[in-house]
This record gives sequence, structure tokens and C-alpha cells, in this order.
Amino acid sequence: MQKKSLSDISTQGKRVLMRVDFNVPLDDNKKITDDKRIVESLPSIRKVLDDGGRLILMSHLGRPKGKVNPEYSLAPVAARLAELIDCPVTMAKDCVGTEVMKQVLAMQDGEVLLLENLRFHAEEEGNDPDFSRELASLGEVYVNDAFGTAHRAHASTEGITHYVQTAVAGFLIERELIYLGKALQEPERPFVAILGGSKISGKIDVLENLFKKVDTVLIGGAMVFTFFKAQGHEIGKSLVEESKIELALEILDQAKQKGIKLLLPTDVILAPAVADNVNFYAAKITDIPADMIGVDIGPETAEIYRNEILASRTVLWNGPMGVFEIDNFAGGTMAVARALAEATTKGATTIIGGGDSAAAIAKAGLASEMTHISTGGGASLEFLEGKELPGISALND
Ligand code: 3PG
Repeated sequence: MQKKSLSDISTQGKRVLMRVDFNVPLDDNKKITDDKRIVESLPSIRKVLDDGGRLILMSHLGRPKGKVNPEYSLAPVAARLAELIDCPVTMAKDCVGTEVMKQVLAMQDGEVLLLENLRFHAEEEGNDPDFSRELASLGEVYVNDAFGTAHRAHASTEGITHYVQTAVAGFLIERELIYLGKALQEPERPFVAILGGSKISGKIDVLENLFKKVDTVLIGGAMVFTFFKAQGHEIGKSLVEESKIELALEILDQAKQKGIKLLLPTDVILAPAVADNVNFYAAKITDIPADMIGVDIGPETAEIYRNEILASRTVLWNGPMGVFEIDNFAGGTMAVARALAEATTKGATTIIGGGDSAAAIAKAGLASEMTHISTGGGASLEFLEGKELPGISALND
């Protein structure tokens, strides 16, 4: 996708309306627990400020369902951003209306205004034309740097582009397109994809798209039990998608036909319940008792996967290997994270689809050891599925 970029336009003295994805996790005290999305937006923010632009930032936070709800205010984000850029960030009370317009028109070069949560208005998710036009009227140029929301055709991502002359991609979006795009278009080989997560149904489109590009696929997460059941193994009380058993067989068959090396675990970690205070042990996949649940890949599998990862030049990871939120069941996911870090050191390109895998890498303390960690959960998944992202397609070519 060749899109016009922030580096192609001049923002000096201009009101720059920038859509960012500041949908960050907050704890009960409204403290931001992971500011990655804010940090990754800084290159675009700094560029506008360094050029002497007037920066109007807009974002959603959570899912307030079209109603004003102080629980979802972006105020904590304004405070964190001000710390990061070492410059005041004014928080607007709303994202549209006469007060906001007055505030915007009073801005000086180099000032930053953060609009209140876009999703306090149902028109945002409804991609309402009047709301899009009203948002558009706040800026003279529009920049979209919200990769995490690029798969949503909302007023601030898609609708707005119909009412502005200049609609360009920010640096975060550019970086995402470079890494995720290159992996899909011209990966250095061997190219291995590691897919985890609980359901085949959630990953089938990614698998089908990746089958056109990869040399090897390593499968983990609870979805392996649907494959095992399809192969006739006892899977105990492990999660299974009964309706996808046929599909699992088709996937295995497709991989064989296309000459793709698709690996499933040879051993798994078993426990009587998905809880942090229960006994657990590793067993071969042919030895799963009827009353046990598979919760992670086993150590033998982790070693096999490590060797595959280290033999590759491009590694793409989406979805954890087990219930990594529980320490006892995080071994497989952490082993894969370490193998990726090792592969990066050896010169491979390692790319992490956002969401759970990004959280797992953060838990392993290895975020800085990866080539690229996507800021998009749903967005990176849809990109890997080969789908068009409306927030990006709508930008100037
Ligand atoms: C995300 O966190 O994936 C994005 O911010 C999009 O949020 P949404 O799934 O609520 O649209």
C-alpha cells in the first residue's frame, strides 16, 4: 500500500488533526499499566511539534457504547503524554461542539490538545457523516496513526477522510506496514509462522493467507486439541471446537499438498483445572487421561519449536502457546519468546502480532529483543488475514 505519509507534508503553523490509538489498559486507580501505544505514537507527535504545528489528538478508550462515562475519560492519557513529551497537554471536555472549536482556534504553534473519548458519541462507531464532517472541521490536515483501530471503519478513521483534502499516514502506521507488509510480501526465507490461541475459528483466515507465504507453521494454544481430536487422540477435558474437526483435517491436508511443514505439539502440559494452585505435569499427546486438561505445550515441543525458530530468517508470532497468564502454564509461551529473542540476535526478523502475544513478550521482559511488535490486536490479525484495513485504504495515495 503506497500511502502519503506525514513526512510528505508540511505542518508548520497548521492545525494538525491526528487520530491515534490511545486505547491503553488502565488499572482500578486509572493508572496506565502499559503505555506502549502512547510511546509508539511519539515519533509522529514530535514531528508535528518540531515543525511548529498545532496538534489536535483524538482517540477512543475502551467501549463506552456511545455514552459519556468518566470511567473511560482520556485524562490519564493526557497526563502521561505530557510527561513523555515534556510539554503541557490540554485536555478538551469533548471531541466536538462550539467549546472545542473555540479551544482549537485559540491554539498556538507547538501546542497540544487531546480531545475527549470519541466513543462518548455513538456517531463515531456509526461512521456518521455529520459527525465525521464536524471532526474534520477541527483540522487543516488529517493524519491517521491509529494502526490498532485501522480495521474499524469509524468516523475518525474512515468517514473523516471524505471531508479533508490531506489525509496521510503517521509514522507508526508506516512502520507497521513496513514490517507486517514485508513479512507477507517478500519475507526472507525460511519463513516460520507460530500460531497459537484457543480457537481454530479465530485463526483460520490467517492460516489460509499465510499458507500462501510460509515454509513452516508451528501450532500451539488450545486449538491444538481440535487437531488432536481430529486425528483420533484422547484429549481429556481440553478445549475443543467440535464443529471445526473436519476443518482441522482439511488444514492438515492443505499443508501437505502445499509442501508446508506444519508442526503440532508432541507433548503438552496437563492439569486437572485451569487454576494457579493445581498440580501439573508434561505428557505425550498420546497419553492424555480422560479427566485432564491441556494447558500449554510441553518441554519437548518447546525445544522442537525453538530449533525451527532458530533455523528461520523471518519469524511471525500470533497467539500464545498456553494459558500464559497463569505462571505454571506459561513455560511454553516463555520458551517461544526466548527463542524469538535468540533468533533476533542471530539476525532473523522477528515480528509479533499484537494482543496476547505482545502481552506475553512483555511478561517475558523481552519486548526490546524483537524486531517489531505490532500495536494492533484485531488490526494486525485482519492485516495477516489479507484483509483491507479501511482506516488505511481511505488515506491519500
Ligand atoms: C484495540 O485495542 O484492538 C483497538 O483499540 C480497537 O478497539 P476495539 O476492538 O474496541 O474497536
